[in-house]
Amino acid sequence: MGLLNDRVCLVTGAGQGLGRAVSLEMAREGAKVVLLERNAATAASVEDEIRTAGGHAYHYALDVTDYDRYGEIVADVIAKLGRVDVLVNNAAINPPTRTILNDTLEDWRRTIAINLEAVYMGSKLVAPQMVKQEGGRIIHIASIQGFASSGDTGPYNAAKGGIIAYTKSMAVELGPYNILVNAVAPGFMATPMSIVNGVDEAETPDFLEWYVRRRKIPLGRTGYPEDVSGSVVFLASDYCRYMTGQLLVVDGGLMSTF
Ligand SMILES: NC(=O)c1ccc[n+]([C@@H]2O[C@H](COP(=O)([O-])OP(=O)(O)OC[C@H]3O[C@@H](n4cnc5c(N)ncnc54)[C@H](O)[C@@H]3O)[C@@H](O)[C@H]2O)c1
Repeated sequence: MGLLNDRVCLVTGAGQGLGRAVSLEMAREGAKVVLLERNAATAASVEDEIRTAGGHAYHYALDVTDYDRYGEIVADVIAKLGRVDVLVNNAAINPPTRTILNDTLEDWRRTIAINLEAVYMGSKLVAPQMVKQEGGRIIHIASIQGFASSGDTGPYNAAKGGIIAYTKSMAVELGPYNILVNAVAPGFMATPMSIVNGVDEAETPDFLEWYVRRRKIPLGRTGYPEDVSGSVVFLASDYCRYMTGQLLVVDGGLMSTF
């Protein structure tokens, strides 16, 4: 028996990085995983990986800011699989670093659209079905950048901080319907997102000196998607049944130091 047997779990940005790891782990726990991803090729490859391992997965090409298509997909999932138990709002971008002095309104709007507005809209699209089912889980992937800044990722930070605040609001609004809303804030994770301008930020001399050798990350290493995916499975499972509106920080202890 898996922790998520037969639950229909939607994961956005499921084609690589954390979204892929969450999808694989949910499938191992018995879920029917719906992979929502703008890159159809990576989504299809994760679907193959899950099916080859004996799990259930269904991929859809989706840009999460295309709300008409998003709505059609949610309707199709309900028609074919009968329900929506979990939504993991994971898809995000982290554009090349800029500051308020040299970014543009267009940069700001694009990041906020994908990283925050689509979280609202995706949740809005699944919530009525969860109300009908008398329960569900919505899990947001935030970031430690939602409450601390590296100094050059303003719209990303604003979106992640918005998600953390909105987690509380959604938990209060949806609690009466037995819909639990929680968030996870990863620290540094080794994923394609952490490769900036061709350089893996977890391999630079500064990172290795400060975060690893001097233990700014007390656990002394960057995180891997598999270090974070279990927290998401926990929030989706029956082990989490009296916790809502909360943020799990999964950062190797980074935010516990100063
Ligand atoms: N990598 C890190 O260090 C780190 C740290 C903290 C939080 N996070 C968060 O974790 C989550 C996953 O990040 P990751 O590191 O796996 O990133 P990633 O870039 O490796 O993967 C993101 C996935 O989302 C997809 N995506 C992006 N925009 C999309 C859109 N508009 N519609 C549909 N799919 C879209 C991408 O195609 C990609 O498959 C994100 O919310 C990110 O902000 C990452």
